[in-house]
Amino acid sequence: MGTASEFQILDSDHPRGYGRTHAKMILLGEHSVVYGKPAIAFPVHSLHLRAEAEFRGRGWQLITPFYAGEVTKEPEGSQPLERILAETAVRNTLRLLGSEPTNLHVTVTGYIPPARGLGSSAAVAGAISLAVARLHGVELSSEQRFHLVQSVERVAHGTPSGLDAYATTRGTPIWFHEGIATPLALDTVPRLLVADTGIQGHTAEAVSKVRRRFESDEAAVTDLLTDAERIAREGRDALQLGQISELGSLMNEAHAVLNALGVGDRRLDVLVEAALRAGAAGAKLTGGGMGGCMIALAPDAHTEMQLVQALTQVGATAVWPVHDGGDA
Ligand code: PMV
Repeated sequence: MGTASEFQILDSDHPRGYGRTHAKMILLGEHSVVYGKPAIAFPVHSLHLRAEAEFRGRGWQLITPFYAGEVTKEPEGSQPLERILAETAVRNTLRLLGSEPTNLHVTVTGYIPPARGLGSSAAVAGAISLAVARLHGVELSSEQRFHLVQSVERVAHGTPSGLDAYATTRGTPIWFHEGIATPLALDTVPRLLVADTGIQGHTAEAVSKVRRRFESDEAAVTDLLTDAERIAREGRDALQLGQISELGSLMNEAHAVLNALGVGDRRLDVLVEAALRAGAAGAKLTGGGMGGCMIALAPDAHTEMQLVQALTQVGATAVWPVHDGGDA
């Protein structure tokens, strides 16, 4: 993150505040992270958002890729989720600042496909809260930012682990465990791709499904969560040692664990199988599951290009590189 001065214009007649966030993908540990197990997440810099806030116009106005209109002062039911989330971010940030401006104009540009396990709701909330706070000359502490994003994430999917709130604002891969995000410094940056099935994921439903399974068969689910923890820990070692084929095998194991937890989907499997056939070192679903996105690990640049082709041929609606400098 930059310093406040990069994002504010305070000494002009027309102050503005800016906030930037990006998409994230979970390499290992989704779902088990909800049960206090560790997870690894990467920033996806190719998918980002920028919010800009100004005091202008009449009332509180919001323009995002999904909604343009007024921000109501109190929550209103039965609106599209994307609108509710963006409005909640504006309202909760103003409440934290103790501000009730007569006019406010917030614009969000950029694109992170919603409901794909890429952290879109956390990224929208993070960008808006940074911009609105900076407009007021306030640089939120990381704790304040975290709590604001979590307040929006709770509206999006009930009991968020907090992983998305960190992963969409941190510029580096993170190890997330028991609410603490630690940056992972890597000598070898893995060639990871994210591919979209084109169908919405259902994080809230998937999280409740795992919860129901846990309640009805605690022993079996505890075994799966223990497996997921081991995979995340071995995955961190493999990442730090640059052991790509070990990391790939662990991703394959993680995909099997997620399927056993019941959050898989046939269309995710089609993409995972295609990636493995095309030479991926490993592949798995990422995020909440039941749709959304998968990730694939390429052993080298040539295979990476083949993966993009193979994934597109079997129906991926988009493929994005996770690592910087990717040409997918
Ligand atoms: O689908 P996403 O990007 O919201 O990721 C959800 C990750 C889960 O572990 C399933 C839930 C959570 O709160 O961590």
